[in-house]
Amino acid sequence: MDDQEKTIELDMSNIPQHIAFIMDGNGRWAKKRMMPRTYGHNEGTKTIRKIALEANRLGVKAMTVYAFSTENFARPQDEVQFIFKLPKTFFELYLKELIENNVKISLIGHLELAPEATQNIIKEAIRQTKDNTGLNLCFAFIYGSRDEIVCSTKEIAQRVKEGLIDVDDIDENYFQSTLMSSHLPDVDLMIRTSGEQRLSNFMLWQLAYAEFIFTPVCWPDFDEKELHKAIWLYQNRDRRFGGLK
Ligand code: FPP
Repeated sequence: MDDQEKTIELDMSNIPQHIAFIMDGNGRWAKKRMMPRTYGHNEGTKTIRKIALEANRLGVKAMTVYAFSTENFARPQDEVQFIFKLPKTFFELYLKELIENNVKISLIGHLELAPEATQNIIKEAIRQTKDNTGLNLCFAFIYGSRDEIVCSTKEIAQRVKEGLIDVDDIDENYFQSTLMSSHLPDVDLMIRTSGEQRLSNFMLWQLAYAEFIFTPVCWPDFDEKELHKAIWLYQNRDRRFGGLK
């Protein structure tokens, strides 16, 4: 442990409510070990468990993980199929423990585009955890932020067309309430692993006032210590939400 890590002491009264992760670098992590990319994705699921349990312990209310983007369909078929099998691996291994820790599972994205077996596994995890009150672990799965915004816009247009609402009823809160992610608070902290510094169509609306942290660590190596470091950095940022202090 280096000096900075030794001195990390988190302010427990200022824990981010919602942390969103772009879990990047699984493929490169595996390649470095001369293993197939799928090995990296498999290790990545272990990181989700580890970080969810620690976030829950710290009192974080919501954690969203970018598990599959609408653009990821462009990957080789065997990799796509492998990722679609990961929910089964993940929930078979960890659902019991997540339930014991009061974690609730949710999802944003087009689950209907996944194979039926994958849909059923995820729906079952959501059902079994629906009354839990701890961390909301949300999988962004077959998700794209622009698509989410377009879906909301269409829904609102339809409601106006049917005379259910007036154009003047539409404000930021109303728009937010129609998003797939309406059950989640705004993101406070966004962490992208593996050194890439872009958003890749992830939660564009929800990240409006988030603090961003880009770490060179690849997702399979991201651990509790890295999470603490990121929260410490967040706590030392000056969040002004457009105002003055
Ligand atoms: C990016 O790494 C990561 C992904 C595409 C996500 C893979 C999915 C998981 C780790 C977990 C899914 C789990 C469940 C339960 C749904 P990359 O392949 O882009 O890495 P690279 O940039 O090094 O190639």
